[in-house]
Amino acid sequence: MNTLFDPTVHRRQLSRAAAARAALAIHAAASPLRQHYHFMPPAGWLNDPNGCIYYNGMHHLFYQHNPYAPTWAAMHWGHAASRDMLHWEHLPPALAPSNELDDDPRGGCFSGSAVQLPNSTLALIYTAVNGSKANPVTQCAALSKDGTHFHKLMQNPIVAQLPPNVPCDLRDPKVLRQGKFWYMVLGASLGGSARQGGDGGALLYRSSDLLNWEFRGVFAQSHGRFGTMWECPDLFPLGNKWVLTFSPMLCKAAAAVYWVGEMDFEAPRFIPQADGLLDFGGEYYASQSYLAPGGRRIAMAWQNGWDWMPWWKSFGPTAQQGWCGCMALPRELYLDAAGCLAVKPITELETLRLSPVCAEQTVFGTQEVRLPCPTPSCCELELCFSLNGGTTRRIMVDLRIAQGQCTRIVLDLEAEELLFDRSRADGGLCNANRRAPLHTSGGELRLRVFCDTISVELFIEESRIAMSNLIYPGESFPYISLHADQGQPQVRYTCWPLRACM
Ligand code: FRU
Repeated sequence: MNTLFDPTVHRRQLSRAAAARAALAIHAAASPLRQHYHFMPPAGWLNDPNGCIYYNGMHHLFYQHNPYAPTWAAMHWGHAASRDMLHWEHLPPALAPSNELDDDPRGGCFSGSAVQLPNSTLALIYTAVNGSKANPVTQCAALSKDGTHFHKLMQNPIVAQLPPNVPCDLRDPKVLRQGKFWYMVLGASLGGSARQGGDGGALLYRSSDLLNWEFRGVFAQSHGRFGTMWECPDLFPLGNKWVLTFSPMLCKAAAAVYWVGEMDFEAPRFIPQADGLLDFGGEYYASQSYLAPGGRRIAMAWQNGWDWMPWWKSFGPTAQQGWCGCMALPRELYLDAAGCLAVKPITELETLRLSPVCAEQTVFGTQEVRLPCPTPSCCELELCFSLNGGTTRRIMVDLRIAQGQCTRIVLDLEAEELLFDRSRADGGLCNANRRAPLHTSGGELRLRVFCDTISVELFIEESRIAMSNLIYPGESFPYISLHADQGQPQVRYTCWPLRACM
C-alpha cells in the first residue's frame, strides 16, 4: 500500500514512538549522568537541533531523535517548548518515519527547519531519507495548526530531484523568507559523495508557496577548504551583514564554521568577508539559529559531533543509562567591532544563579590556591584575572578535581592560546584536548565557565572564544584550583551554584 497518503500511519508511528520513549524514560530518569541545565531528551538518542522557532509565545526546539534507543537509527523529530530556553516541556515526538520516502532504518526524517505561515500554521521542512529505494533523498514538509500535532503534506516530496553535480548527498533544508519569496538552503556534496570525491557546498532554492521549488544554484562552496559535505547550513541576516554557518564533514580543523559577508539572492552568491569557528571545543555541531523576541539571534547546537565521537560503536557512558545526546547552552549571536561573529550565553542563564561564593582580589603564584566550588557539576564560574605588567606566562585553572582526575584550562599568555586539557578528566572516556587563539589586551581577562554533569562550556567574550566540551568525571571535590608558572597574578572569583532545570 502507498503509505505516503495515509495520515493514520504517521499518527500510529508517533504513538508507538511516544510509548517506547516513556518506557525507556524510567531508566533515563535514574541516570546519574543526567544533565542539570543542558537540554537533553527524556530518553533515547538526540543529535541536531531542528526547527528552532519562536512560535505563539514559546521557544520551540525540535531535534533529531531516536525514541526507541540511545543510539542513532530511524530518525524522528523530538520536540520541546519553553518560555525561557532553559525550562523545557517535553512534547510528543513531532515526526516519525512513516512512508516510502523515509521508512528505512538507516534513514528517517532528517534535519530541517520551521517557519510560521501567514495563517499561523507551523510548517516543518525536513529531509526524508530512504537509502534503499529509488528516491534516496527528498525534501518534505509537515504542517500543524496547534504547534504540537503535525501531518505530512500530501504533496510530498516538495523537492524530489537531485540537482546537477550532486550525486547523492543533499539535506538539511533551512527555509527563510526574504522579500516576496521563500528560500531553501540545502547542504550538499558537490561532484562526488561526502565519503568520496565530494566538495562541501550550499545550494539555494526559491519558492513563492513553499510547495513548488526552483533550483537557483550553488551559492557557496568549500573548494577543498572546509570538508566534503556541509551539514546543517544556516543563512541569516545579522546587523547589516549576512551570516552562513555549517558543519563540514571530514574536516579535521573545524566542526562549526561561520562566514560573514554579503548575500546576493539573485546570482545566487555569498561573498565572504570574514570566517571563523562558531566554537573551538570538541563538541559543538549542527548549529541552527532563529529570531527570538527583542531581535535576538539565538543559536542552538548539538553538544557532540560525528567525526570525533570516540565511542561510535557504543555511544558512550550515558547510552548505558537510557539516553545519549544533549544541546549546548543557547547562545546569542552578534557581530563584534571587527565584523566577526561573536557569541555569548543567553542572559536568561542568570535566573538559574543561587547565592554566590566569592573571593575578592586573590593573589596566586606557583603554589596552588584553592577556591570554593560547592556544586562542581552544576555551577557557573567567573574568573576575572588582572594581568597588568606581570611576568606570568601561563595560568592553570583546574576543575572537576577528584582523586587522580582534573580538567585543566591553561591560559597561555605567551603563546596566546587557550588549551582545554582533558587528558586526565575522566580516565580516557572523553576525546582529545582542544585549543583556541587567546587575545588579551593586557589588563583583564574574564573567563566564564559553565559546568554541568558531563559538560564544560567556557566563554571569553573579549577574545571571541566559545568552547563546548564533554567530560565524564566521577564525583568532584568542592573546590577548583589555580596556579601560575611564575609571577603573581590576581583573580576576582565568583561561583554561582545553579538551580537545576532539566
Ligand atoms: C548532522 C546530520 C545531518 C542529518 C542528521 C541525521 O549531524 O548528519 O546532516 O540530517 O544528522 O541525523
